[in-house]
Amino acid sequence: MKLNFIERMYVNSPVRKLAQHLVMRWFGRTIALKSGSAILEVGCGRGVGAKFIYDTYQPAYLYLMDLDLEMIKLASQRVNGQNDKPLYFCVADAARLPYADNALDAVFGFGFLHHVPAWRDGLAEVARVLKKGGVYFMEEYYPSFYQNAITKHLLVHPEKDRFNSQDLLRAFQNVDLTLTHSFELKRMGILGVGVKADSQSISCARHEDACQVVLD
Ligand SMILES: C[S@@+](CC[C@H](N)C(=O)[O-])C[C@H]1O[C@@H](n2cnc3c(N)ncnc32)[C@H](O)[C@@H]1O
Repeated sequence: MKLNFIERMYVNSPVRKLAQHLVMRWFGRTIALKSGSAILEVGCGRGVGAKFIYDTYQPAYLYLMDLDLEMIKLASQRVNGQNDKPLYFCVADAARLPYADNALDAVFGFGFLHHVPAWRDGLAEVARVLKKGGVYFMEEYYPSFYQNAITKHLLVHPEKDRFNSQDLLRAFQNVDLTLTHSFELKRMGILGVGVKADSQSISCARHEDACQVVLD
């Protein structure tokens, strides 16, 4: 689900950039990634996280996708051309990722999953595209934060079947992601790191046709 005007203002603000910087620092203290990895950021927004990821991990391949073409254009303006390796931009739905099975070393998601109505499908897609041993770095929020008495009037999110920590944990287990690190602020949200098990056996269709627009 695309952001409304108020949330768009927030995620495109310096406050959000600072918050993302702190989240990246936490991720950096968990599991190290080798340089030269293949990394995807789902729901990349205006590309602030992409810049952090690029500078921190020097990936060989960095794939950036978002449901919102306007966000992808902003991300492209922010990070394209400033790097010596190509970046791959795509407009698509997180519930149907246009990437092959077992293809990526890491997936970053800064607050996209709670925007996906079928969030379990979004999580299953993250697990599907990760290689065995691949890592999902997750920043997520709970409905008590984004759908409380005040925020429900300001923000727009899917309303049904929302997740808290226990729902997330069960969903991780269902797609063979092991939660290795977490940091939770009750009633607000969670930072988590999930590693795809070697015995990963979920089988999902590939969705090469799901990418609606590709910028290069
Ligand atoms: C809260 S914003 C976060 C943006 C950016 N990652 C950040 O941290 O500032 C959520 C982002 O997820 C995108 N998004 C929402 N639903 C999505 C979906 N189903 N598939 C892919 N991206 C989605 C939105 O367009 C938005 O850019």
